[in-house]
Order: sequence, then C-alpha cells, then structure tokens
Amino acid sequence: MALGRQLEYAQVAMFTANTLTLTQHILKRQHKHPDATGQLSGLLTQIGVAGKLIQANVRRAGLIEVWGSTGDTNVQGETVQKLDRIAQDIFVDIMKRSGCVAAMASEEEHEIIEVPADSSGDYVVCFDPLDGSSNIDANVSIGTIFAIYRRTKKGEVVRGDTLRPGHEQVVAGYIIYGSSTVLVYTDGSSVDCFTLDPGAGEYFLSRANLRMPDKIKQLSLNECNEPYWPKWVKPYVTSVKGRNDAEKRRVSSRHIGSLVADFHRNLIFGGIFLYPAEPSGKAKLRLLYEANPLAFIAEAAGGAATNGVQRIMDLQPEGLHDRTGLVIGPKAEVEACARFAKEHGN
Ligand code: AHG
Ligand code: MN
Ligand code: MN
Repeated sequence: MALGRQLEYAQVAMFTANTLTLTQHILKRQHKHPDATGQLSGLLTQIGVAGKLIQANVRRAGLIEVWGSTGDTNVQGETVQKLDRIAQDIFVDIMKRSGCVAAMASEEEHEIIEVPADSSGDYVVCFDPLDGSSNIDANVSIGTIFAIYRRTKKGEVVRGDTLRPGHEQVVAGYIIYGSSTVLVYTDGSSVDCFTLDPGAGEYFLSRANLRMPDKIKQLSLNECNEPYWPKWVKPYVTSVKGRNDAEKRRVSSRHIGSLVADFHRNLIFGGIFLYPAEPSGKAKLRLLYEANPLAFIAEAAGGAATNGVQRIMDLQPEGLHDRTGLVIGPKAEVEACARFAKEHGN
C-alpha cells in the first residue's frame, strides 16, 4: 500500500480516537451542573440513537420500499411520505423508552403524544421527524428537528406542557441526513456539530462552538412566492442583489427546500433564510417544530430569528400546529429585514 494512503488511514484512526463523542460531550456538560439528574443527558443521547436509526432507513431509500407517499394526508394537509411515517415511529418509540420524556408534540400528529406513567420523565419534546420530505425521492438532504423543554409541574400531562414560548427551550438541535449524517445541538451556551462515523456507529465532534458568520454570502428563499410576499420583502431582496456588481459577486441565491439543510448551510457559510408570512397572515413553517428550535440555535450562534415584527422565541403558541413567518440568519441582517418591514409594511 502506498505510504500516503497508510498515513491517511492513520490520520482517520487518530481523528476518531482523539475526538469527543457525542455522549462524552453531553456528559462533560452535565458535570458542570452538580445537581443534574442525568435525564437530559440520557434524552439527548437517545435522540442521537433515533437519528442513527432514521439515517439507516434514509440511506436505503430506493433499495427498500421507502420512496413515495403513504397515501395519507397529515394534520398539516400535506402528503405523508413513507419516510415521514418511519421517522415519526422511530423517534416516538425511542423517546417513550428513554424514561426521560413525559410528552411529545410532532408535526405529524394532531394531538400531544403522552408517555405512560411508568416510563415518564421530566422533559417535553417537540419535533419535526423529517423536514424537507418532498426532497426524499430526489436524494436531497433532509433532517430531523427537535426542541426540548423541562416540565414545569408534575402530574397529568396537558397540551399546555408543549405550548411554550421558544425562550423556554433548554436544548434544541437537528440531525441532517446529507453528504454525511450530522447532529447539531445547543443548550444555549454553544452550538456544536457531530458527524456520524458510519463504521464506528458513533458521532464525533466535528465543529465546536459554531458561530453564525456576520456577513451573508447566500440568500435563501423561494422566489416563486414573490406574488404572496409582504411589501417589504421585494425591496429587501433587491437591496441584497444590489450588493453584487460587475467586479464582484458577493451574494448568491441558494434554496434547497429543506429548511434544516438551508439553515445548516447558512450557519456554516453565512446566509439568511426567509419564508415570510403572506399579508393575510397565512404562513408555511411551524412554530413549535421548525422555527423555535432553529431560532434557539441561531441565537446561541450569535444570530437572530424574527417573524418580521417579533422575535420568534417570544411568540406565545396558541395551537400545536401554529405557523409563522420566519427570517433567520446573522443578527445585523435580520435587523435589516426588520427595518425594511417597518419602512415598507406588510
Ligand atoms: P416538511 O417537509 O417538514 O413538511 O417541511 C417542508 C418545509 C421546509 O423544510 C421548507 O423550507 C419549506 O417547507 C419549503 O416550502 P416550499 O416548497 O413552499 O418552498
Ligand atoms: Mn419541516
Ligand atoms: Mn416534516
């Protein structure tokens, strides 16, 4: 074997041996809180396990019968893909058996999902089991998004346990099934990214303390929705395009159509994502399962998230499936959008 190759392999082996695993990272954080019960650590570790099982199914899309829709429509009125259902079932089963969760709310279920008292725990999880599912059959990146809240009182679980403003989240994160599987999470203090080594079956820290770049290189929105945009969006988009000139292209358009993958790319390269609500108030993205967890991550990485008028994490949810406009990215850029919204209106 060529020496170069041998060195490459040795470097890979060193990488995995010298790098924190997800579980080690979680436990290290837990040790900073001497009175912690370990439940949150257990819960996060189990979310990692759910991610491994979901990715194993995603990776076989096209081989086993997981392409296409189930023929059902979900609570959102959208077509349920087979992988939506698989991801939902895996996530719920793992959470129920973790012993850390009292209730869940999912984009795919009408009502809250209660955990039987004998395996109930102190936390509530709101999640989108598979985000970007319209992209599945074209092998485009998709992901799972989750938000974790601590229960405020013991006893019977009620819907109110899940109808919490985003600023009450204790942890949020996502798992992307892309060129590799990555898990990103924050407890509010830092945003850390772990890559699944498929051979070892373990997540390893691959990007520590991610910060959202201040400058945007990418503008991410569905431009075909222009006829339904509120008044301020077009002048803002025009102003971003105006940053390019013959000499230098400073901003590019990038839109995947999987929010989680659009967000992750913007977090790594610098970009802003917009999916504004229509002037009538009609919106696409879900507050509990998409906007809140990503807003928590954005803020922890130095960014911001608004619906154009209000901070996303200050919105009080009224229903499990509330939808919201979402503008998420670097703080200064999100503030610029808010100024456009103030000046040009809805
Ligand atoms: P989901 O697959 O969970 O239903 O979410 C799809 C969302 C989001 O991921 C994406 O940004 C957006 O829908 C795309 O919507 P459009 O096709 O309307 O642009
Ligand atoms: Mn989604
Ligand atoms: Mn979904």
